Amino acid sequence: MAGVTDRPFRQLCKRLGAGYAVSEMVAANPKLWGTDKSRRRLDHAGEVAPIAVQIAGSDPGLLADAARYNVDRGAQIIDINMGCPAKKVCNAFAGSALLANEALVAAILTAVVRAASVPVTLKIRTGPSPRNRNALAIAQIAEGAGVAALTVHGRTRECAFVGSVEYETIAAVKRQVAIPVIANGDIRTPEEAQSVLGRTGVDAIMVGRAAQGRPWIFREIAHYLATGRHLASPTVAEAHSLIAEHLADHYDFYGEEMAVRTARKHLGWYTAHLVGGEQFRSEMNATTTVDEQRAAVTRFFDRLADVDERLIYVKPADSVVRSISMQDHLHRRQFSKHSSWGREALAA
Ligand SMILES: Cc1cc2nc3c(=O)[nH]c(=O)nc-3n(C[C@H](O)[C@H](O)[C@H](O)COP(=O)(O)O)c2cc1C
Repeated sequence: MAGVTDRPFRQLCKRLGAGYAVSEMVAANPKLWGTDKSRRRLDHAGEVAPIAVQIAGSDPGLLADAARYNVDRGAQIIDINMGCPAKKVCNAFAGSALLANEALVAAILTAVVRAASVPVTLKIRTGPSPRNRNALAIAQIAEGAGVAALTVHGRTRECAFVGSVEYETIAAVKRQVAIPVIANGDIRTPEEAQSVLGRTGVDAIMVGRAAQGRPWIFREIAHYLATGRHLASPTVAEAHSLIAEHLADHYDFYGEEMAVRTARKHLGWYTAHLVGGEQFRSEMNATTTVDEQRAAVTRFFDRLADVDERLIYVKPADSVVRSISMQDHLHRRQFSKHSSWGREALAA
């Protein structure tokens, strides 16, 4: 997820049980490769293998060059983005807008598979719109072109993030092709993970937004799938220590000035459903240095430790509706700005 799954966050998720994590997308347009943002996205130092880099664009030749360029810089898997619904990406006819042009999809996949000396995977939606759910055709094209695995977010481009996920379409894709299929969309709990695996028969599941502020969801899902029992939520002390380490990596990766701002969204997610989260966020938003931010986090966890030994999440049905609104607000802001997700691919 652009603006979220940077190297520090991917490393944390892998440490906490994610079997696999893909980089934020890198534009196929070489003019953008020299920017600070691209340089950070191309930096995989210390990352746990396999290093998977997602590329976005619409020109088969540029995408093939981008694949080679990223393999030369350490990518062990190249993933192609045909799942992004952001307007700017789609206006540039990249992301999920590509799904409407099956001939172009075939040309892109063939060119990238030929150019890359590593496995190439593809991320799609179920089609451009509810009137044209062509995921089955795209899956066949992908398999024929030599794509190694396919991730399906079970919504059409037009549906964006609204409405139910079409797990039946994902199941049909799985039945259609022999390559591994990964189901994605609205998997937020261990039970949902188990249910999606059962309903679709897929080889793996991909978790996106539910990992924001809750990277330990991966070990919770893995534990539940293995034992049928729930793993206890982290203790307050463990969560504090994990978040402190995440912050240290984040500060290191972005540099103090930028990191204080970019860490806020993660801290907003970490605290969105926790008692006292609102007070923490107003304190945290006033901080301007990493030392102040770190101190605000420590004060928050000290207060939380007085409430319980473990993290207790307040459910939406309870009274802390405003905490939930905060999370929704953060999501909305991401989508409305399209963060880097839209802007970069526009230029791709
Ligand atoms: C902020 C944000 C950024 C995203 N960026 C990308 C991206 O760069 N590439 C991609 O394939 N999907 C991207 N996605 C889509 C997610 O990978 C995923 O398909 C979608 O959120 C549905 O899964 P979920 O319900 O588990 O979040 C993004 C989603 C969000 C919320």
